[in-house]
Amino acid sequence: MPDPRPTPIPVNLDLRFIPRHVGVVMDGNGRWATRRGLARTEGHGAGEEALVDTAYGALNLGIKTLTVYAFSTENWRRPVDEVRFLMNFNRGLLERRQHELHAEGVRIIFSGRRDWRVPKGVLSRMDEAEQLTENNKVMTLNIAFNYGGRAEIVDAVKRLVQDHVSANKIDEKSIRERLYHPELPDPDLVVRTSGEFRTSNFLLWEMAYSELVFTEVLWPDFRREDLYAAIFEYQQRDRRYGGVDS
Ligand code: IPE
Ligand code: IPE
Ligand code: MG
Repeated sequence: MPDPRPTPIPVNLDLRFIPRHVGVVMDGNGRWATRRGLARTEGHGAGEEALVDTAYGALNLGIKTLTVYAFSTENWRRPVDEVRFLMNFNRGLLERRQHELHAEGVRIIFSGRRDWRVPKGVLSRMDEAEQLTENNKVMTLNIAFNYGGRAEIVDAVKRLVQDHVSANKIDEKSIRERLYHPELPDPDLVVRTSGEFRTSNFLLWEMAYSELVFTEVLWPDFRREDLYAAIFEYQQRDRRYGGVDS
């Protein structure tokens, strides 16, 4: 399906400085639903449109990597019904959307723990989506699912030990090589919706020098225009990486 909502790119965006990698903490689904007198799960459902529209926006700008936080290692603390809904919803989302994303040249990958807590049916859909789209080159959609930034670092440390790396060989490079997707550049920009000013364990290692943009918009209301606005804000920033202005 072609872009269902072709939208011009705002003229205020400088197309020479589009972030290569954007991360999004998709937050506020529950509040969106509660404000409408709906069940929290309805908010998750409404987030699908936001995700697809944001992906089209990223495609239109030529963003190479979009990482979205879909389920955290802490989200298992939620009521079992909501967790079950989220598992089924994410499986269904892949079923419904993988072909459309594939047609756009999107490579779908996942970051997170594929442990026993994730139902088999979800894991097999994840494998299927990865295999279907593995040769796509236009954009990588990295879905952080059962993802925690601390868990990712713990998993990297475990691999260092398994690989018998001696203490004097441990450096940032050897750790980075053992993250879930070392081939991806660090995110230039991380956006969080719903007016919360925290990272909630997203991309801890990779976010060290990311620009952060926070918006009050609740995730189900988020559209590509909000992505464009976040990128405009990003483009006003002065990235110094600990140095001084050149
Ligand atoms: C984000 O929305 C979705 C997930 C964390 C899975 P929330 O469900 O956290 O919504 P709020 O923050 O309660 O409004
Ligand atoms: C972060 O949102 C996780 C995802 C968006 C998947 P949360 O709603 O879980 O974060 P907290 O609990 O407000 O920190
Ligand atoms: Mg939340």
